[in-house]
Amino acid sequence: MQPDFGRVLNPQTETPLLKALQSCVQKPHAPFYTPGHKRGQGIPASLAALLGAQVFQADLPELPELDNLFAPQGVIQEAQALAAGAFGADRTWFLTNGSTAGVIAAILATCNPGDKIILPRNVHQSAVSGLILSGAVPIFIQPDYDPTLDLAHSLTPAAIAEALAQHPDAKAVLMVYPTYYGVCGDVAAIAQLAHQHNMPLLVDEAHGAHFAFHPELPIAALTAGADLVVQSTHKVLSAMTQAAMLHTRGDRVKGDRISKALQLVQSTSPSYLLLASLDAARHQMATQGKQLLEYTLQLADEARSRLDQIPGLSTLKPEQAGTAGFIALDRTRLTVTVTGLGISGFAADAILNEQLGVTAELPSLQHLTFIVSVGNTSADLEALVQAFGALAAMQGETAETQRRREKQRPSSLILHPLSFIPPSSLLTPRDAFFAATEAVPVAQAVNRISAELICPYPPGIPVLMPGEVISAEAIASLQTILAIGGTISGCADSSLGTLRIVLC
Ligand SMILES: Cc1ncc(COP(=O)(O)O)c(C=O)c1O
Repeated sequence: MQPDFGRVLNPQTETPLLKALQSCVQKPHAPFYTPGHKRGQGIPASLAALLGAQVFQADLPELPELDNLFAPQGVIQEAQALAAGAFGADRTWFLTNGSTAGVIAAILATCNPGDKIILPRNVHQSAVSGLILSGAVPIFIQPDYDPTLDLAHSLTPAAIAEALAQHPDAKAVLMVYPTYYGVCGDVAAIAQLAHQHNMPLLVDEAHGAHFAFHPELPIAALTAGADLVVQSTHKVLSAMTQAAMLHTRGDRVKGDRISKALQLVQSTSPSYLLLASLDAARHQMATQGKQLLEYTLQLADEARSRLDQIPGLSTLKPEQAGTAGFIALDRTRLTVTVTGLGISGFAADAILNEQLGVTAELPSLQHLTFIVSVGNTSADLEALVQAFGALAAMQGETAETQRRREKQRPSSLILHPLSFIPPSSLLTPRDAFFAATEAVPVAQAVNRISAELICPYPPGIPVLMPGEVISAEAIASLQTILAIGGTISGCADSSLGTLRIVLC
């Protein structure tokens, strides 16, 4: 266990890592270490013109004053302990390879080859990478699904209870909380169920690093009883891209094993720009988080209600929570349904981005999702509302035509994901990954074993995982999604002309 500098020696107003980096930058010396640009002296002029010279002076390696990410005993240890205090953890690890590294390490730390892990079918691909690297056997559970919104929500406690009853020998439960759309499942109930079976609950909280800092946000997974939580500090807080954190509470997951796993999936030359940005982001949240998020919530709430008044648009609202897989909504996440305008989310995204100067985080067939964070200004939200007003006007939309369109909406637009359930799994994702494979015309792929993770958007629930048998139904549902304007990710040939199969 790390010493509790966060609560005893170092108050949250300190930034030990950032300060140490700053003093290294200011110390005059001749650099004979990596990186080769030598504190910016050799940086190409074109890059310096874009980024300025200053940033390169702080792009330093693991100098003695800067501690060591993989055996921290100095300023990194202090900064991580402060983060643990701020985020409600017993122990925190800084990550320089995103939540991707954290999710993989979480699986490697809890599962040996052949061990079972219970997880939702709509996991992020980093979890599938974790399955491949660890050799763990997935027990996939379908998430709750809203056919009206065509959105996959969270795992439900009932589904977890059933999986635990069938697989009491599993080694861990993993859940995604919140979803990309800000939808939160019942993490507290799921933690309790996992603990009743002596299993740790691992939470991919990539989109929820802000939850601990405002009482009107959904409960943070650690507070709700999760044992290990991975957060993309860069996604919703102010850290730099790729900077993330892994937190633990209690001792169901062994810290030594996490440290060892993280060494497998991170560079031995971690970027101090990223590490220092984690220290600064934690400091910002610990000292001003509530106030900043108060404003962010106000901006998002106002925009949500103004968007709802534009004919043809509707938004995902906190009042819609109330099912087992959707018990709360992160109000900073704006999901706007555009089908009432008679266009798809993809088409709306292209117009907003190319013509109206507003860029979404995630377009899908029916919706556009926007991340509103402490970095957004009222001008940004004004631009968003104005752009949607202009888009609606371009579509010649009125409340009356919207009602007509809603009635005419083709039922084929909604595909229930239960029709995607694959028949069976013959190989683990790891065995499928390492097997010899070949691409075959789609018609010849039926009853063969998939070498690919094939996931259509919508609804973002994989139809095929590596190692699963390719059924005719799975192919038909993928083809339907392509035909109605959806996208297929994960396969080498996204037009679905060929599929990659395992040779056996
Ligand atoms: C649910 C979820 N988990 C994990 C990740 C991986 O996060 P990162 O980009 O920080 O590696 C993402 C990225 O989008 C995500 O959406």
